[in-house]
Amino acid sequence: MNKIVDPAIPRHVAIIMDGNGRWALGRGLGRIFGHRKGVEAVRRTVDAARESGISYLTLFAFSSENWKRPPDEVDGIMELISSFIHRELDNYHRQNMRFQVIGERSGLGPKVLNALEVAEERTRNNTGLHVIVAVNYGARGEIAGALRALARQVAEGKLDPADIDEAAISGNLDTAGLPDPDLVIRTSGEQRLSNFLLWQMAYSELVFLPCNWPDFNRELFFEALSEYARRNRRFGALAEPQVALTDT
Ligand code: FPP
Repeated sequence: MNKIVDPAIPRHVAIIMDGNGRWALGRGLGRIFGHRKGVEAVRRTVDAARESGISYLTLFAFSSENWKRPPDEVDGIMELISSFIHRELDNYHRQNMRFQVIGERSGLGPKVLNALEVAEERTRNNTGLHVIVAVNYGARGEIAGALRALARQVAEGKLDPADIDEAAISGNLDTAGLPDPDLVIRTSGEQRLSNFLLWQMAYSELVFLPCNWPDFNRELFFEALSEYARRNRRFGALAEPQVALTDT
């Protein structure tokens, strides 16, 4: 069944979930408590996303730069990701949700990798909310990987360099086949992109929220959607049909 497309509702929302550490530090707690609370915010956000009618939700769970953090914190985040999947998979599968992972899988431990791949495999044919989890993801690395794949095809004589266009690059990214995000939300008050979906974000609307990720909730999600609905997306064109002015 075709969905009615309402231009005021983004099709794809991507979120940089920032501020877990600051949330915890502000309460005299260890950083991992912030990440634990962050998982509760993930649950609320998935529920809100299903309710909102968006089709795709991408969550930046772990960047390729996050390996620079202390091993305890890295292990803690990986553990939270796999336990989240173990707890929610049956429920999300029943709700017809689809899971997909983007990022460099080779760097991941077997436990988290297995959880992510089981979730992908089991929900592959689902047609409801499509949740994309970015784990060990970095946009520059992703773009370099796409260019390597294209170079290989040229070297093998399967691709003419003249045919390397924007669609060819998009089609070789981890996000091949997914629509670009219409709306990108970042929490914690920081206003930067942190190597997230750089190619895909060319025309995304950006919303920066002052709250830390563990405080993110349904109301803030819908406020961000309202802010998006007020934006005037032009994609380089003009806002309104222009009436030619003539001297009379
Ligand atoms: C950024 O806050 C958050 C992360 C690097 C980890 C995000 C992970 C989760 C919310 C948990 C697992 C995710 C899923 C999808 C179940 P920060 O630590 O950089 O905060 P800070 O800038 O205040 O230090």
